[in-house]
Amino acid sequence: MEFHTKSSEETIELGEKIGAALKPGDILAFYGELGSGKTTMIKGIALGLGVKEEDIVKSPSFIMVNEYKGQSPIFHIDLYRVKNLGEVLSIGFDDYLYGNGVCLIEWAEKAENELPQNTIKVELTTLSFQERKITISGLTGF
Ligand SMILES: Nc1ncnc2c1ncn2[C@@H]1O[C@H](COP(=O)(O)OP(=O)(O)OP(=O)(O)O)[C@@H](O)[C@H]1O
Ligand SMILES: [Mg+2]
Repeated sequence: MEFHTKSSEETIELGEKIGAALKPGDILAFYGELGSGKTTMIKGIALGLGVKEEDIVKSPSFIMVNEYKGQSPIFHIDLYRVKNLGEVLSIGFDDYLYGNGVCLIEWAEKAENELPQNTIKVELTTLSFQERKITISGLTGF
């Protein structure tokens, strides 16, 4: 599936619709350069999963994992700062993957080989200042 958004608000709205279609145990891997909108879209997904707006922090930044409470636990994992797979595993990555929450992973390419086959992949491309192409594969029931 391919989408085009023309503002961060549109990306949040798309995220909300996707979030509403997710189930506990779903894993979403986000790919895309700095500023392509991964965190923005994850905010929408968290909203769609029932997380209150005021509970959403902008980005995990120094902490690599933020947990939100929606209909199920939501683990927002940002691997930007990790250097190697050992560091990824040291945060308990597999426990998040195979726990009962929804996992939303930024810079997922840093843990590519750990991702199960049923991972839903979301690729964001910056087309212009405000335009993004968002390609989603592996999502059913949407
Ligand atoms: N259509 C759009 N969709 C998403 N964000 C947009 C869009 N147009 C403009 N933006 C802006 O682009 C920026 C996206 O930032 P965001 O933190 O979501 O990116 P990111 O991919 O998570 O970056 P990083 O790799 O640094 O974590 C925000 O400042 C947002 O307002
Ligand atoms: Mg981000």
